[in-house]
Amino acid sequence: MSRVAYVNGRYVPHRQARVHIEDRGYQFADGVYEVIAVSGGALVDPGPHLDRLERSLRELRIAMPMTRAALSCVIGETIRRNDVVDGIIYIQMTRGAAPRDHAFPARAETQVVMTSRRSKPHPRAYDEDGVKAITVPDIRWARCDIKSISLLPNVLAKQSAREVGAYEAMFVAADGTVTEGSSTNAWIVTAAGELVTRAPTSEILSGITRSAVMDIAAEEGLRLVERPFSVTEAKAAREVFITSTTAFVMPVTQIDEAVIANGKSGSISRKLRARYAAHMAAAGASVDGASQRRTL
Ligand code: PDD
Repeated sequence: MSRVAYVNGRYVPHRQARVHIEDRGYQFADGVYEVIAVSGGALVDPGPHLDRLERSLRELRIAMPMTRAALSCVIGETIRRNDVVDGIIYIQMTRGAAPRDHAFPARAETQVVMTSRRSKPHPRAYDEDGVKAITVPDIRWARCDIKSISLLPNVLAKQSAREVGAYEAMFVAADGTVTEGSSTNAWIVTAAGELVTRAPTSEILSGITRSAVMDIAAEEGLRLVERPFSVTEAKAAREVFITSTTAFVMPVTQIDEAVIANGKSGSISRKLRARYAAHMAAAGASVDGASQRRTL
């Protein structure tokens, strides 16, 4: 089956999907995006993702191009046309195409692109062995709360990780604290058994997975503290894990050269990973995929 992309009102073969060379996303990274997981044919936490998308647009004064109901329809249709049962949908909105000038164009028309693809299940080894992370200086701007398509520091960080066989790069602020991963939020479990993750200020993206995991942690009766933690504290922590739409809850068992605890994923990371997998499965199980898509 060939893939289909949504481009400004039309469903086109993925291979032929094009935007204008003067699209401001292409020229200035003047746009925002969302990635939503699809599980069992249904979206995982669509409400919070679309709330965040609307917030990112508002913060950059980019007009929402259609009603939320219409957007939900297009999302559902893009997933359906690509026959995605388990995977992701990617939504990108930019300020539009206009003659190149840094300031906003007088008449900007928000451009919308969506793609959807299947994803393979994570390797089973992640459950027990976790993954490695490296640390890199956080060289990003001061509005990391906006899910902007301007991702160069994240791209460079992830590439550095890839080159040494690590899964993620953790950004470290000038004061030695971990802000977040290049595409994930970062967490530790302290020796006292406290779950720690940075508060959602403008220094990090407020992850939708992060919020879902906070709810699960509360249900599990875990003590959660939102505060910064240093790289040194993370390396000495009982457990470390990262969260995102595509990583889910991912145990981190090595940071740079430091092995975390005994080098295996800890009990809290495993518990939260399993509970989050159930949360995703529930999205698809509560209703059959086709009817869920119709009622997004
Ligand atoms: N990344 N922090 C950053 C910098 C991110 O890019 C992401 C998501 C997260 C986690 O957010 P969420 O739980 O809502 O996925 C945190 C997506 C998956 C991406 O860029 O592909």
